[in-house]
Amino acid sequence: MYVCVCNVINDRQVKQALNEGVLSVRALRQYFAYPESCCGKCHRCLREMINAHLQAAECEQQARCEACPA
Ligand code: FES
Repeated sequence: MYVCVCNVINDRQVKQALNEGVLSVRALRQYFAYPESCCGKCHRCLREMINAHLQAAECEQQARCEACPA
């Protein structure tokens, strides 16, 4: 699925960037070298993907902590 039509960036590319630690819209724009003149319609979707990624990472970390013997 395309996330950014202007720059032809799909969700797999965004997920890869998130896994590499690129965790803000500004950083993603730099990572993908968006030109400044782009429409910005993808920013909301990017924010949602960042939040989902962070939430999943937090759940994973919490599950590991709960699994550890005290
Ligand atoms: S859809 Fe991403 S900048 Fe236009």
